[in-house]
Amino acid sequence: MKLSRRASELKESATLAVSAKAAQLAGQGIDVVSFGAGEPDFDTPEHIKQAGWTALEGGETKYAKPASGIRPLKQAVADKFKRENGLEYDANSQVLVTVGGKEALFLAFAAIIDEGDEVILPAPYWVSYPEQAALNGGRSVVVQGEVSNSYKITPDQLEAAITDRTKAFVFNSPNNPGGFMYEPDEVEGLAEVLEGRDIVVLSDEMYDRIVFGGREFKSWAGVSEHAYENTITFNAGSKTYSMTGWRIGYAAGPADVIKAMSNLQSQTTSGTATFVQHALATALSGDQSEVETMRQAFEERGAHICRRLNAISGIVCPEPAGAFYVFPDVSECYDKLGVSGSIEFSSRLLEEAHVAVVPGEASGMDDCVRLSFATSMENIDRGVDRIADFLK
Ligand SMILES: Cc1ncc(COP(=O)(O)O)c(C=O)c1O
Repeated sequence: MKLSRRASELKESATLAVSAKAAQLAGQGIDVVSFGAGEPDFDTPEHIKQAGWTALEGGETKYAKPASGIRPLKQAVADKFKRENGLEYDANSQVLVTVGGKEALFLAFAAIIDEGDEVILPAPYWVSYPEQAALNGGRSVVVQGEVSNSYKITPDQLEAAITDRTKAFVFNSPNNPGGFMYEPDEVEGLAEVLEGRDIVVLSDEMYDRIVFGGREFKSWAGVSEHAYENTITFNAGSKTYSMTGWRIGYAAGPADVIKAMSNLQSQTTSGTATFVQHALATALSGDQSEVETMRQAFEERGAHICRRLNAISGIVCPEPAGAFYVFPDVSECYDKLGVSGSIEFSSRLLEEAHVAVVPGEASGMDDCVRLSFATSMENIDRGVDRIADFLK
């Protein structure tokens, strides 16, 4: 069958490809230490599971009405934005509930991008942004984060990337895969560049609750009136509440774009499962203590893995400021190993040392690899021991 140009040009997700290869080795009985996971290793908190279960038992098994999200959840989302991010959204007209954060982002690209529009994308970036932009006819303009700036971009770099075709800017802090986060004054500095300009900001805030060192998280839309009017803010149950498999996320922004995204959703997925929406409403408005327990565990593990990796000659690892990833530069080892880049590095590491990491190439930084520390301290130590042996 002849596939469409868009489908044939689409890349498989690098993260899923690594997981598949690691699973294949594990299936042969090989003990693989995986740093590939893009999800918390904790179970969904009990009271959230219970809310989903109660909704199922109560017959919440039909289409969600409206498809864009049930009223109590939209209200819980609006309350979350106000309480945690200082953002005022009208629950009825400015909030959309989606099948994970991923669907929300896809719908946003579909709602705003026309053929040939440019999307400014700081690297390193989450692997799906360029593919989702391309599927909707957009062209990514990649801006390389500075290694000396923990891979963050500067206002000057953002300014230099803008052309008269620029339609959108993708902002992700705390960052997957970089593990860095923009401080409030840095968010303001970047937002200043876009002040008065007709550029939509997609602010991916999936990791807003997973921040380290007492840092303050700042939502892009909270910077100014102009930023608020030109930003779509994204979040999900996935990372904060360890709900990746429930497939539920949400977006908020100007009513016209939320309406367009909701129309697109009504013709594609019809939204997420009704009982899952009840579970997320409970997650957002209920007891938050397990969010803090998970955050603390990630903070300890992040500091530990970073310290251990930096002790290995040839690896330079910036300390993570949020999310649950470290993104070390391993390029000094490429010559010695005779590998051409992060894909070959990761593949040799998996085959020879049985350690799974994600190549940075898919995130626009071939010098680096991503290690998720959403795994136990014991696994972290076992895996890093193997990496150290591999690079001896
Ligand atoms: C930066 C970022 N955005 C969006 C997503 C998608 O999240 P979800 O699983 O809710 O679709 C992820 C998940 O890995 C992510 O890391």
